Amino acid sequence: MREETLLTPEWVTQKATFLDWDSQPSLFKHYPHFCYRTPLSAHPSLQWLMETRCITSHQIVAHKPYYRLNVPSAGNLHPIEIYVQIRNIAGLLSGLYHLEVVTQELVLIAEIGVAGIEPYLGLEQRFTGCIVMLSIVPFRSSWKYGLRAWRYLYLDLGHQIGALSSSVRHFGLNLTKMFTQDTDALNRVMGMGEDERIVAVYGVGEGSMRLVKRLEDPLMSVQPTNYTIKERLLAENIKKVALYNDIPNSIVWDDFVTFNNTRRSARGFNPNVMGDKAIVELMEVKAPSSLEIVPILLQAHTMQLGSYRNKECTVSGNFNSDVVHLLLDQRFISGSNMVLLIYAVDFRAHSHIDAGIYAQEIYTMCAFLGVGCSGIGAFYDNESFRWSNKPLLYAVAIGGK
Ligand SMILES: Cc1cc2nc3c(=O)[nH]c(=O)nc-3n(C[C@H](O)[C@H](O)[C@H](O)COP(=O)(O)O)c2cc1C
Repeated sequence: MREETLLTPEWVTQKATFLDWDSQPSLFKHYPHFCYRTPLSAHPSLQWLMETRCITSHQIVAHKPYYRLNVPSAGNLHPIEIYVQIRNIAGLLSGLYHLEVVTQELVLIAEIGVAGIEPYLGLEQRFTGCIVMLSIVPFRSSWKYGLRAWRYLYLDLGHQIGALSSSVRHFGLNLTKMFTQDTDALNRVMGMGEDERIVAVYGVGEGSMRLVKRLEDPLMSVQPTNYTIKERLLAENIKKVALYNDIPNSIVWDDFVTFNNTRRSARGFNPNVMGDKAIVELMEVKAPSSLEIVPILLQAHTMQLGSYRNKECTVSGNFNSDVVHLLLDQRFISGSNMVLLIYAVDFRAHSHIDAGIYAQEIYTMCAFLGVGCSGIGAFYDNESFRWSNKPLLYAVAIGGK
């Protein structure tokens, strides 16, 4: 999908048309009002789930509600939903639930008992606790970005998996890997139509000795947006992607809840207030082996400006205007201290998810260090080879606040 999703100067000029925000598809999926609901705040043992995906800012913009979440999202379009199978948790009916982010409620789609989702994930015994399923809703993003949305869906998903992992670890729990041979069957039984696809699954709980039967009847189907326009190539490519189930090696943050609720993407920087020590700490954040991180230092107190590899400046120089241009001439980036360019060994969906997970950790590290940052998904692909021979997937601009 690299060629189909390239950004070139010609494409950008052509696309720079007026976007009618009134035609934006709805951001949050709603199951019918007759479904049983319970507020997450009534279940303290599920605080990790509440912190995984939540609203952290609510404004009115142009007479419409404008929500922002604990996770960043390209264009603030949030093309993700979360479902949870809950089994044997005190105070909750065992069942398959949708996490309704806007009300912070769990919405019961179907009760479970001897039958459950486990056999779709290769398990013969019941899984006690939660099975978390993350879906993507391509139209929420393709409505604005066309085919480029393919990349943003997986980057956004990576941010979401990163937040899930940090939250779980903060609350002293762990993620369990879940597999499936048949992603189609899992999607069918969960009631996913053509406009939504479950793409990652994790357990938070433990296996048991009790046998489980396969849930036979699909759950009710609810459209994830109020309307949709089919994008065939996008849908076909998403269907081919195997379930993601790598477990991020997230740092355990004591102040995770504060960072999670106050994090915002920077819209401007004050480069003088960011120290060199913070720059080095950010360079030390571990990335998975699927990625190659190239920090470009644009402004610092004593450190050498230029591009870095493994904390060593390998090419010195002032690359401010080159980097700003690479990132589609987004002017606010010129005030940043450092831009992390995130390249991948392979251009695949899973590398984009890895890049999103890594960037989510960078966001949290920036919150810890008291500096600002923003994920940058818009760049001229063919100009990125100057700093690596691999494909560029994502960038993060970082600087003083
Ligand atoms: C995959 C991805 C790509 C993004 N690309 C850009 C970008 O190119 N330029 C930009 O200014 N912000 C970018 N952002 C930041 C979003 O605009 C921001 O997350 C969104 O507006 C919500 O604001 P918040 O992060 O403060 O909650 C990106 C975020 C993500 C997750």
